[in-house]
Amino acid sequence: MKSQEANHTVSEIRSKLDIVEVISSYLPLIQKGKNFFGVCPFHDDTNPSMSVSHEKQIYRCFSCGASGNVFTFVQEYEHISFRQALIQLAERAGVSLNSISYQKKEDKYDKFYEIYQIAHKYYLNNLKTNLGKKAKEYLHSRTIDDAMIKEFGIGLSLDTSNDLIQLLEKKGYNLNELNEIGLANSNHDLYNGRIMFPLKDLSGRIVGFSGRRYDGKKENKYVNTKVTPIFQKGSILYNYYDAREHIRRKNQVLLMEGFMAAIRSITIGVKNVVSLMGTAMTKDQISLLKRLSLNVILCFDGDEAGVQATISNGEELEKQGFHVRVIELSDGLDPDDYILKYGKESFLSLIENAINYSDFKIKFLKKGVNFNSDEEVSDYINQVLLETSKFSDEIRRELILKTLAKEFNIGYNTLEKRLSTYLEHTQKENKREKKEIVRLESKKPNKYEIAEWTILYYMLMNSKVRNLFEQGKFTFSKERERFLASEIIYYNQIYGTLVPADFYTYLQDKKELLELLNHVLSLEIEEKITDEIINQYIRVIRENSVNLEIDRLRKTMKEKNDPLEKARIAEEIRKLKMGSE
Ligand code: UTP
Ligand code: MN
Repeated sequence: MKSQEANHTVSEIRSKLDIVEVISSYLPLIQKGKNFFGVCPFHDDTNPSMSVSHEKQIYRCFSCGASGNVFTFVQEYEHISFRQALIQLAERAGVSLNSISYQKKEDKYDKFYEIYQIAHKYYLNNLKTNLGKKAKEYLHSRTIDDAMIKEFGIGLSLDTSNDLIQLLEKKGYNLNELNEIGLANSNHDLYNGRIMFPLKDLSGRIVGFSGRRYDGKKENKYVNTKVTPIFQKGSILYNYYDAREHIRRKNQVLLMEGFMAAIRSITIGVKNVVSLMGTAMTKDQISLLKRLSLNVILCFDGDEAGVQATISNGEELEKQGFHVRVIELSDGLDPDDYILKYGKESFLSLIENAINYSDFKIKFLKKGVNFNSDEEVSDYINQVLLETSKFSDEIRRELILKTLAKEFNIGYNTLEKRLSTYLEHTQKENKREKKEIVRLESKKPNKYEIAEWTILYYMLMNSKVRNLFEQGKFTFSKERERFLASEIIYYNQIYGTLVPADFYTYLQDKKELLELLNHVLSLEIEEKITDEIINQYIRVIRENSVNLEIDRLRKTMKEKNDPLEKARIAEEIRKLKMGSE
């Protein structure tokens, strides 16, 4: 049977991978007891609500309910199909997928990626020709040497030419396509006479360009690829793909504005860096960061815009649960200028000494305050206290209060009182968040439900319990539980074994059953299964079945008029009652 073979391959791939390892390559996990925990990437969260079980090879978020095995994780994380996840994980597991049904189908956008590859090669080559001399000189004058040009794939679009379009048309691509993916503007090359920096998507494929002017004449300093089916500037971070491992290893990311800054930083060995390509930060970009590390160091340009961006982005990141630190660059320098001017060691020490976001904010709040105005001073003090209430360290809070008291000659107690109201507020907010999670988690099941779920759990783990079900020793009161039980039996009959993580894949199209499976697997259930425990639960389940049957019989009895029928049913009820005692 073909599908059985395919299923075998699927479970082979799954069993060769460790879900903890795979998920760790996407987000940081911390071990607590038997399980691993991380911040769930499938909803807006700051708490480590996702637990990953090494033993069961499944994950589950107790806040949003996302759960599954290694395939569902990769599928949902990368927004890809089951087939695509399978291909990826097969490669990772070193399992070959020669069964025809899993051969890679053509990606809808394969053509676009191809076009970008060709364009990139073309741009690279231009820079090597005589026509690229001036551009190269410009790059060299900016201390971007040939090794860097190569490493970052820097190229050149030629002045007033249509060479790229012509080249691509010769290769069979049509003008409409080239317009759609942002390489042509009507029937012209879109980029002319610009130094071309390739932009990669999350899988490292080139999907766009940023073209910089270098001869001074052009209007915009940079021209970026427009939104296309494969590119959206706000959904990527420059250098994200190449920085991933470095960020994870250091558990820290440097966030910059410009990609030149990132490039410079990488060349001095600071590789855990990404840039926004501007000062605006989108939700998508925040989730990208969240996947890698919650420790962010903001390293924006040392101008007014950079400071504003530090404040607004820092605020949002803190709200999202990041631990934010800040590097301040002076004299309007950007990291690129700074490194060129002061050197590597100096920049490394800036990273080392980056200050907490709250400290930066307190410093920032002071700017522009008119200290002769009581109103402005009081406003300032309130804002500082609000910021201070976010510090968990009591000593730090006290130090700030003391400084404020001295600086403005205000009673320490007055400040402390005000701070405590802010503290209460912050703590309330925190509690509210926690409560929401608990509420979602438990709907207070009754003892019968608990018994049924526990037995379902045991059916997944233990063949003895499966046999008891097959022998009709108990049944489930609800249809959904009954269906899941019969799927368990069926799966076990076909495959001769039952591993819950594989069972997930088998159930992938049966949403209701999957939900129940998730739920059952997430329960805190005694792992040791003894006959006594099994019997206990089965007794409870049967008690429930009997009660339900008696209820049903009573109802029918009421509907009957024939006294003989009534008597017969009454007898049935009596027997049931006796049997259950
Ligand atoms: P900057 O103006 O700070 O550029 O813009 P830069 O990184 O220092 O570049 P050089 O050193 O002048 O060559 C920061 C980022 O904003 C985006 C780019 O992504 C740039 O990296 N930007 C800037 C644009 O998209 N368009 C522009 O016209 C300017
Ligand atoms: Mn610059």
